[in-house]
Amino acid sequence: MGALLPGPWPLELLQEAAQAGCPGLRVEAVAQIDSTNTELMRRVRAGALPPPTLLVAERQTAGRGRLGRAWITGGPGQPGDLAALPALTFSLGVVLAPRDWSGLSLAVGVALARALHPALQLKWPNDLWLQGRKLAGILIETAQLGGQRVAVIGIGINLEPPPGDPDTLSVPPAGLRALLPACTAPGVLLQVLPPLLAALRRFEAEGLAPFLADYQARDLLHRQAVVLSDGTQGTAQGIDAGGGLLVHTSAGMRTITSSEVSVRPAAAPPGAPA
Ligand code: BTN
Repeated sequence: MGALLPGPWPLELLQEAAQAGCPGLRVEAVAQIDSTNTELMRRVRAGALPPPTLLVAERQTAGRGRLGRAWITGGPGQPGDLAALPALTFSLGVVLAPRDWSGLSLAVGVALARALHPALQLKWPNDLWLQGRKLAGILIETAQLGGQRVAVIGIGINLEPPPGDPDTLSVPPAGLRALLPACTAPGVLLQVLPPLLAALRRFEAEGLAPFLADYQARDLLHRQAVVLSDGTQGTAQGIDAGGGLLVHTSAGMRTITSSEVSVRPAAAPPGAPA
């Protein structure tokens, strides 16, 4: 894996790497911002985003996750010391015109997992997990700009687990350096960008179908007991062709598609192996 790349953000290399999947991608790097997603959405809403744009930040002061949650990164690392950054946080603003938008976060998750490491699993709908801990999250927002729809695809990848007691957090975090000890934020960005752009174009042309087999192979929830945020319990049975999560409940099979529903693995019974 070629994720070692110390030094300043390699903006030209990133632009070159993006050429095949997204000619003309504009790459911007900032030391600090509230949130890369918030910034790109502000630009779209102001009619000012010249898509396509990649915005990467060394630090976010108000990083956002799904369902209104905060996205917190941090730990050791000095401003400007890119080799020591504890996380990669970036957003991509691109015009997309898929026939069906459902399953986009799954396709993005598959592309990232494929690009990063065979050991990574996917937790519906938008997380990458490593050895039972959350490694990365995806936040996709869309807005209309003229006659086109812009997708802002925000990705946060922990290189080091964020501070805090992992055993008391509701979702314990993982860090990519556990798998790739020498990886750096610029190196990981260079590694994931071309496959991510290729996946977006493929999703636009063919939908979720080309990603389903890989999703299934990495599906963390498959045949697991799960609890939905509305309290419903059941057993996850994979995803349907549109990316909905199939959950077998006492009332029969339910397809979970709402972005307002979250899913967590049910607690293991006492005495079960960890
Ligand atoms: C989640 O797991 O709930 C999604 C987390 C998404 C975090 C990324 S970091 C870059 C971009 N900017 C944000 O404020 N959020 C996304």
